[in-house]
Amino acid sequence: MAEEKKSILDDFKVVQGESQKSGRVFKLAIIGTGWIADAYANDINKMDDVEVIALADLIDGKAEKFAKKWGWEGKVNYYPSHKELIDAEKDNLDGVIVSTYNRTHAECSIYALNAGLNVICEKPMCVTLEEAVEMRKAEKKSGKVLTIGFQPRMDPNMKKLKAICESGVLGKIYYIQTGGGRRRGIPVPFGTSFIEDKTAGIGAMGDIGCYSLDMVLNAIGYPKPLTVTGYVSDYFGKDPEYIGFKERNHPEYADKFGVEDFAAGFIRLEGGIMLDFRIAWAMNLDTSGDTIIMGTKGSVRVPSTECWNGSIGGPMKIYTEVAGSQVCTEVPVLPPLKEGNFAAKIRAFLKAIEEGGKAPVPTDQIIINQAIIDGIIKSSKAGKEVEIDIPEI
Ligand SMILES: NC(=O)c1ccc[n+]([C@@H]2O[C@H](COP(=O)([O-])OP(=O)(O)OC[C@H]3O[C@@H](n4cnc5c(N)ncnc54)[C@H](O)[C@@H]3O)[C@@H](O)[C@H]2O)c1
Repeated sequence: MAEEKKSILDDFKVVQGESQKSGRVFKLAIIGTGWIADAYANDINKMDDVEVIALADLIDGKAEKFAKKWGWEGKVNYYPSHKELIDAEKDNLDGVIVSTYNRTHAECSIYALNAGLNVICEKPMCVTLEEAVEMRKAEKKSGKVLTIGFQPRMDPNMKKLKAICESGVLGKIYYIQTGGGRRRGIPVPFGTSFIEDKTAGIGAMGDIGCYSLDMVLNAIGYPKPLTVTGYVSDYFGKDPEYIGFKERNHPEYADKFGVEDFAAGFIRLEGGIMLDFRIAWAMNLDTSGDTIIMGTKGSVRVPSTECWNGSIGGPMKIYTEVAGSQVCTEVPVLPPLKEGNFAAKIRAFLKAIEEGGKAPVPTDQIIINQAIIDGIIKSSKAGKEVEIDIPEI
């Protein structure tokens, strides 16, 4: 019992350590002033050591409206795209936030890195493996920080899951099931940027599937994927009768729908591990199942959330055998960070800039996440298993 308490306190020390201020003022710009940029602005306004000095958006007047909403009028310069912003402001900036839709993550991040800027790029890293490779090359050439915006990583419960896997209590891990889903949850409250191919490029996998993959792959140290058999479908998104479109009086969203609303993959990982993954923006089912990590000495079950968003849905359970008895241990849920996971991810980025250190959510890991998504799409198109080949960078 005393041992358990100590490890919980240790978790908090790690987390709080990531969130400490450094004493300098960081100058940032936001590229893409849409929905998730609000989350950045909300947290940055609570940080007295961060200043946003420039905003860019492709949509005329959107950045100006955004500045007004967050009380930044007169304090920021506006630009019509990432290029003008970076060309004009690169010498004044410590880094940029790339909060554009998926299709422009790669070009914005690469342009910023080439200009010598640190980058926090929203998840998913990008759309294709080829783009991820180019981002990694630009990052390496620049020597700057490129981190990907997976804030669930900051959750003490995620850190606990990783600690459980690393403790050896599970023995050799050989099978993992992960994913999640929503009964009716295609995200269109703010328009179509999540569902059109020209803006999103990937659907449920880029929105929420990448979280499930990150949860388990980060927990076990991101082993390389070798092959994948993938399947994607769009039965709900292509249906003009889909309730989420009808309720908003936008049955035409079905014509615009150009990504997957469901994906499944069977992925062979290095080290003899099989990963079984599925993700749904919409399905005729309550849940597509909890996450389970099975090992030769023990297994862990991570309850899913009703509306999958990358967070742990309840107490994790560890199943083991002790002195000939089959036992199940419930892991107490750790309280959330006071500042929130999103603020902690911004802090972790600032800390990496300050220390010139490794990105908190590094691309040598997330390229694997992207390669799996890419492999599922390629395998689904080909109708057969495909090999995953991630070039050394
Ligand atoms: N971390 C999270 O919890 C979380 C939550 C939601 C969305 N996201 C991610 O954030 C990204 C953006 O999502 P959103 O809902 O804010 O989308 P959005 O469509 O509301 O906003 C994106 C904005 O980027 C702008 N843009 C695109 N390319 C640009 C460029 N080259 N230069 C300047 N502006 C550009 C668009 O005009 C648009 O206004 C997505 O990749 C999504 O996956 C992350």
